[in-house]
Amino acid sequence: MSCDFKDRLQKAVKETEAVVYEYLPAEEGYQKTIFSAMNYSVKAGGKRLRPLLMREAYRMFGGRGKEIEPFMAAMEMIHTSSLIHDDLPCMDNDEFRRGKPTTWKAYGYDMAVLAGDALMIYAFETAAKAFSMNGDPARVGRALEILAQKTGIYGMIGGQTVDVELTGKPVPKEKLDFIYRLKTGALLEASLMIGAVLAGADEERLSAMEQIAADVGFAFQIQDDILDVTSTEEMLGKPVLSDEKNQKTTYVTLEGLEKAKDDVARLSERAKERLMTLPGEKEFLGEIIAMLVDREN
Ligand code: IPE
Ligand code: IPE
Ligand code: MG
Ligand code: MG
Ligand code: MG
Repeated sequence: MSCDFKDRLQKAVKETEAVVYEYLPAEEGYQKTIFSAMNYSVKAGGKRLRPLLMREAYRMFGGRGKEIEPFMAAMEMIHTSSLIHDDLPCMDNDEFRRGKPTTWKAYGYDMAVLAGDALMIYAFETAAKAFSMNGDPARVGRALEILAQKTGIYGMIGGQTVDVELTGKPVPKEKLDFIYRLKTGALLEASLMIGAVLAGADEERLSAMEQIAADVGFAFQIQDDILDVTSTEEMLGKPVLSDEKNQKTTYVTLEGLEKAKDDVARLSERAKERLMTLPGEKEFLGEIIAMLVDREN
């Protein structure tokens, strides 16, 4: 990784995080606990990968407005809500996330369920602010549709459903692929697609961005499985061996570590190649995608 890229990435993540923070609710009023639980989970940290990818896709297609910002914040809220619920005792039963006690550990099971719900719906309240920010209303509408589709029953929630249902059971490869494409791929697809849509990309380019993100998302989840068995809690900010604890079939248990690593590299290379066929300033986005192969957390 070049120093230039590292610096640029660090700056971009900082700017992205500032945008996300801007849209978080003030902690006041009788329902203060829910605001506090939402903010705790978002502010705990995280790589901010999805809103960053969204911003870069927007810029790549020439987007220069502010209407991308509520969507960036919304994306990180939805992603965080998925993590809060994923960690619950009835799901993966994990106690650490982003280097801190998970939301249910810090706020109780009841508040964690509500905080996950709250972030998911507040995300849409937030994204809808783009209508009053000079964005093209048709584009904003389409972006909202993508956000909902990729979050819901045909996206992340659909994937989590099959993931949870098959816990402790043998999972055939096609079903594992289905789970990964949905539980992790879908929100990455939404990120690149929304960036492109808001900047005015046509349907053909939108579909190219969807395919690029599908490969990135799949590789990202395989890498997550790899790190679960090769990394440390300190490095990840979340427990290792969580999958084994939950008797999960993962890409690593099914295909072996070496094949898993090869496939991450192959998918990411394919995504990068496809990206390079598109017009616009895409070098930074390409470098981010390449970095994900070697990520250590
Ligand atoms: C974790 O996502 C959940 C998966 C989809 C594998 P990230 O690795 O992006 O988590 P944060 O946002 O950096 O905490
Ligand atoms: C992805 O799967 C979770 C979501 C889509 C929320 P994991 O259960 O493997 O994610 P981590 O490892 O807990 O972050
Ligand atoms: Mg899980
Ligand atoms: Mg988990
Ligand atoms: Mg995992």
